[in-house]
Amino acid sequence: MDSDSLTYKKLIQDIGNIIDPSIPTHTNLGNVSALIKSRFNWFWVGFYKAEKSELILNAFQGPAACVRIPKGNGVCGKAWSENKSIIVEDVDLFEGHISCNPASRSEIVIPFKNSNDEIVYVLDIDHDQKNAFNKIDEMNLKTINKLIVPIL
Ligand code: SME
Repeated sequence: MDSDSLTYKKLIQDIGNIIDPSIPTHTNLGNVSALIKSRFNWFWVGFYKAEKSELILNAFQGPAACVRIPKGNGVCGKAWSENKSIIVEDVDLFEGHISCNPASRSEIVIPFKNSNDEIVYVLDIDHDQKNAFNKIDEMNLKTINKLIVPIL
């Protein structure tokens, strides 16, 4: 098993142990963001909550970020409206990318679904270098979504 796989294995175990359905969702998502960010030392890790026609910034770790993203806009809004994960190798080449911080160079966005298969959050992760994310990240982050369905 390579080091990233081991890191994800441990991360997934730790998230399973820390989530607690008896506390508010944003508190749990704060811990989930903190665990993910600290394991990989990524630039920004956070959740946007899907509300009516826009995404609202929810629990996150990293620099201050944009608070509202209309459905369909940016990488996050597109992942939500098109119900798909998006990996952006170079933010400068993604039409409509919303720059919350100029240090962000690449990103991955995963729609997070509840037990009814509805998108209730999107997870956005930013890196300060290009080409930072791949299908292995996508697969593991989707596993984290499934793991935390009880608190969504
Ligand atoms: N870059 C995102 C906006 C959110 S921040 O990166 C935290 C986008 O284009 O949707």
